[in-house]
Amino acid sequence: MRDIHTHILPGVDDGAKDEAESFAMLDAAANAGVTEMVCTPHCREPYFNYDAMVAAYRAFRAAAQKRHPQIAISLGFEVNLLTLRKIGFQWAEKLGFEKPRPARRLGPARGLELDDSVHEFLLELPVDAESNDYPRIERAIFALQGMGYEVIIAHPERYLAIREDMGLARQLVDMGCRLQASGDFLTGGRLKGSRRPAKKMLKAGLYSYIASDAHTVKHYRVFAKAWRKYSKYLRAEL
Ligand SMILES: [Fe+2]
Repeated sequence: MRDIHTHILPGVDDGAKDEAESFAMLDAAANAGVTEMVCTPHCREPYFNYDAMVAAYRAFRAAAQKRHPQIAISLGFEVNLLTLRKIGFQWAEKLGFEKPRPARRLGPARGLELDDSVHEFLLELPVDAESNDYPRIERAIFALQGMGYEVIIAHPERYLAIREDMGLARQLVDMGCRLQASGDFLTGGRLKGSRRPAKKMLKAGLYSYIASDAHTVKHYRVFAKAWRKYSKYLRAEL
């Protein structure tokens, strides 16, 4: 099981407070069946400190590989769009997922071997954006796609305009975005009210991922539960 969104790095954002909590979360992830984990600290005010986050990641990964060698750990960021606009899109290349993934194929590769790896980028949209803000948001996404990224939209079930109009989420999927549900939708989510829109969009086949978005140990338990119950609704190309 691949968890593409977790705040497991110690002391760099509002996730794990210290090493002890990071390791407790790692144990919980292992228990939940996670085999691949992308650590995604917040690229958003007031947390973003690239150098500190990379240093925390390197130290964490070294220790985590000894503790749970079966989990492949890599680095990404959860990039808030407003922050990205502020710091500049030239930052994107430092903020996408560390390891490119092979492109999804309909069948086995034949003939020419092309470099078709996918560079993923986890993007958080402003929660309270209105529907008429979405054309501008979509232009930003197109810009990232033009830079070669596969844009993954973090927890659209929390975004007010999407809660009111699922068509906005469908439009993001039609643009080539992948949508990621955060497992805590099961219990309402951090901002409350996520359960109903998430279930609706899952059943409509709009999501490609369920991730833990874990800030504490308990998020891994709810993630495992959400995965067991709802992963059957994820888009088939994965
Ligand atoms: Fe997050």
